Amino acid sequence: MIKITDVSRNYKTGETVVKALKKVSLEIADGDFLSIAGPSGSGKTTLLNLIGCIDALDEGEITINGEKVTTMGKKGMTEFRRNNLGFVFQTYNLIPVLTAYENVAFVLSILNVSEEETKKRTMAILKEVGLEGMENRRPGKLSGGQQQRVAIARALIKNPQIVLADEPTANLDSKTGEEILRLMKKMNEKYKTTFIFSTHDQMVMDYASRLVLLHDGTIISDERRNG
Ligand SMILES: Nc1ncnc2c1ncn2[C@@H]1O[C@H](COP(=O)(O)OP(=O)(O)O)[C@@H](O)[C@H]1O
Ligand SMILES: [Mg+2]
Repeated sequence: MIKITDVSRNYKTGETVVKALKKVSLEIADGDFLSIAGPSGSGKTTLLNLIGCIDALDEGEITINGEKVTTMGKKGMTEFRRNNLGFVFQTYNLIPVLTAYENVAFVLSILNVSEEETKKRTMAILKEVGLEGMENRRPGKLSGGQQQRVAIARALIKNPQIVLADEPTANLDSKTGEEILRLMKKMNEKYKTTFIFSTHDQMVMDYASRLVLLHDGTIISDERRNG
């Protein structure tokens, strides 16, 4: 369970202050498939980065599974992120010189998993995301959809409790975007991983089991859906 309480985040650039989030409160249940939607600049990325322990807030509190991540400090947040969270980005963010296999296996090498187990788990997850036979290709030899599949495998390889995806389909055509959504939904159901993704794409919203709408740093609606 993620508990966000009265969270504010201000960006100061010179004399001006942008209030990116204004006292946002939200509780997210384990295993949810939640979409944060809203126009560009509404605070989606800011909110995901705070939940993802990538950024620090100015006011309020975030607890994840009872752990207060907001007072952990930089080191604590890095450690927490490494052990509990997976990330998927709009631009995939794969390492170009590494193969699909290496991009995913890399995560486990940081976690001190044995070579044999790394191989087993990496091959299995790449197969699950539909990339069997493409393990040795570098990102430049994969389509956008295939690259995002590698990114999803990389996010899931350590069995995180939570995956955060910032506009995961924004660079994909609608058919490929839908395939990526279906894949994330399948993984959500199979592994009970909580998925939180941001979007301004209606099709993506339609897949969510809960839709939170942000506007100017404030939640303006929150609805349960059939997903
Ligand atoms: N690093 C930053 N420095 C200054 N302003 C920022 C920064 N990041 C985001 N903002 C501002 O905060 C607001 C929310 O941005 P963001 O969370 O990126 O929105 P979204 O992801 O919904 O497009 C916007 O007004 C944006 O310009
Ligand atoms: Mg954004």
